[in-house]
Amino acid sequence: VLLHEELAGDEVLVVSNREPYLHARTRKGIEVQRPASGLVTAVEPVMRACSGTWIAHGSGSADKETVDRNDRVAVPPSNPSYTLRRVWLTKEEEKGYYYGFANEGLWPLCHIAHVRPVFRSSDWEQYEAVNQHFADAVVKEARTDDPVVLVQDYHFALLPRMVKEQLPKATIITFWHIPWPNPESFGICPWREEILEGLLGSTILGFHTQLHCKNFLETVDRYLETRIEHEASTISYGGKLTQVKHYPISIAWPEPNSEQPSVAECRKTIREEHGLPANHLLAVGVDRLDYTKGIIERFQAIERMLELHPDLVGKFTMIQIAAPTRSSLDEYQNFETRVRTLVQRINNRFASGNYQPLILKAEHHDSEQVTRYYRASETCLVTSLHDGMNLVAKEFIAARDDDRGVLVLSQFTGAARELHEALMVNPYHIEQSADALYRALTMPEAEQSERMRSMRSLVKDFNIYRWAGRMLLDAARLRQRERIMSKIR
Ligand code: G6P
Repeated sequence: VLLHEELAGDEVLVVSNREPYLHARTRKGIEVQRPASGLVTAVEPVMRACSGTWIAHGSGSADKETVDRNDRVAVPPSNPSYTLRRVWLTKEEEKGYYYGFANEGLWPLCHIAHVRPVFRSSDWEQYEAVNQHFADAVVKEARTDDPVVLVQDYHFALLPRMVKEQLPKATIITFWHIPWPNPESFGICPWREEILEGLLGSTILGFHTQLHCKNFLETVDRYLETRIEHEASTISYGGKLTQVKHYPISIAWPEPNSEQPSVAECRKTIREEHGLPANHLLAVGVDRLDYTKGIIERFQAIERMLELHPDLVGKFTMIQIAAPTRSSLDEYQNFETRVRTLVQRINNRFASGNYQPLILKAEHHDSEQVTRYYRASETCLVTSLHDGMNLVAKEFIAARDDDRGVLVLSQFTGAARELHEALMVNPYHIEQSADALYRALTMPEAEQSERMRSMRSLVKDFNIYRWAGRMLLDAARLRQRERIMSKIR
């Protein structure tokens, strides 16, 4: 409701690399899949609520078979409410733009996860070309000359400016879903000026936290000649004004659902499926198999906890759901090997009979499956080394309508700025994480419920519609001001 009011009939276009639905050819025929992406989790409900067009890279094996002549398909497939416009990329474009510049360059650059960014001129050229390609698709899809364009993430740093050049009246809201590092770190990028100029084509540029906004303003200050109003958090560059603001992203609060299995059922069936006794203690982790997520440090903390509390050996298991991701990149392959080797070593060390303390499920799980694990576990471990927001933390809270369960949360996530009642850890400090895990497993129910209730009321209030609503409201105000100014002129 709120979104419709903010939009007042404006046309909305979303641009992101990852598509919300992909069609894959399987033995059973064409199947619809949902990718594991925080961005998709967050933006999808917004699009359902306000229709419009979502432009994204068509990456499913049967995507081409399901679109119309204009590469469009109505989604969600079960209940169409907006348009997905697929953009096709060649293997070379995908390699340079997505795997190369975005995921070997910008991803490690912005996460400061001690993985060296790789910058190649050939990747940069593809990144520019693909940004232009998507910018042209926005212009082609737009039916009005002043649409609201929602640009998502580090794949499209150049696109805001490119769209602005062709549609000067468009309101461009760009959201950067990953952290923004300090000027020294960002300065490593050989194309730092171009990236900054591209982003400054945005009317509004959003980050998850104030710290990321501050880092961005300082980076611009360091590398471009601009006028920055620090109080108002605006940057004027080339006669254009960009508002830089933090909008912490969130999730759609789940509707009460009578078909959802109860917490008691989830606890029982998940334990049965893994051959564990009814009172077995469980921790869950849900991540893409990505080196920024602190999965290795998490397993080391578990090992340490079992060393310190041998009484828990045989009584505690961690189930790690790890969706494979970007697996054609060396760093990701190496990471997977390191994770698997560590799991084996720790399991060998503590195994007895059928018991193993770590269960690694390195495959995709849909959201209903993941919710069952959230509901079945005593604690959820989110130990990212660095993370823009981390929506797993919020999903876990949303899943616990029994007000039980403990969230262990890395202080280096955006979520830590909001979820103060989580047990906060520095994931690099293995002893501290081991203590936090033990505390989570032994926390009295009254304390669990006090903490959980307070986090639940926060996430329920500051849900994804608030996130989008606040950005759209700010955009509506700027649009109105622009209209008045142009009348005066
Ligand atoms: C993060 C990024 C998203 C991305 C997601 C999944 O959440 O911010 O832009 O979609 O990871 O990664 P992938 O490369 O599979 O799209």
